[in-house]
Amino acid sequence: MAVIKVRNSGEVIEGVDKVHEFLEAQGVFFERWDIGKLPEHLVEKFDLTDEDKANILNVYDEDIRSLAERRGYVNWDVIALSDQTPNIEELLKKFEQVHTHTDDEVRIITAGHGIFIVKGDEKTGYFNIELEAGDVISVPENTPHFFTLMDDRQVVAVRLFIDTDGWVAHPYEEKEHQI
Ligand SMILES: [Fe+2]
Repeated sequence: MAVIKVRNSGEVIEGVDKVHEFLEAQGVFFERWDIGKLPEHLVEKFDLTDEDKANILNVYDEDIRSLAERRGYVNWDVIALSDQTPNIEELLKKFEQVHTHTDDEVRIITAGHGIFIVKGDEKTGYFNIELEAGDVISVPENTPHFFTLMDDRQVVAVRLFIDTDGWVAHPYEEKEHQI
């Protein structure tokens, strides 16, 4: 279950109801999917074959189609990041820059962990959303954010797109001390 850490205040928000309430107030879509559906051999696998990726999409097909219908996504894929990923350091450097998209950025975490750092309302400022398997998140369009891995440095996520053009990253200038 996701944990929220508000960067300015140090406040930590945990538990289903409180996390939902906080994210809803910040306009961030969040829900939980049944991670028990994932076949055992994919629970801790981060170097995925095309067959593994197809398997993940197949297992969650009904959930993905329901989410797509509710929120307007038209295609989806699976991304895996770990120390086995070529150029992982370069990729992380790119991911760790604050940016926006004209569409929302939705991720279903199926293994490992990841953090979205999102700019909240003026009073809240930036907050971390620490994600684990089963967490489904959507960073709203035009909202400054960035993504990074956690200590385990590995994640598998399903991505859904309204239009792949809408997911182009636009750099967002932020004063370092405000992040
Ligand atoms: Fe992004």
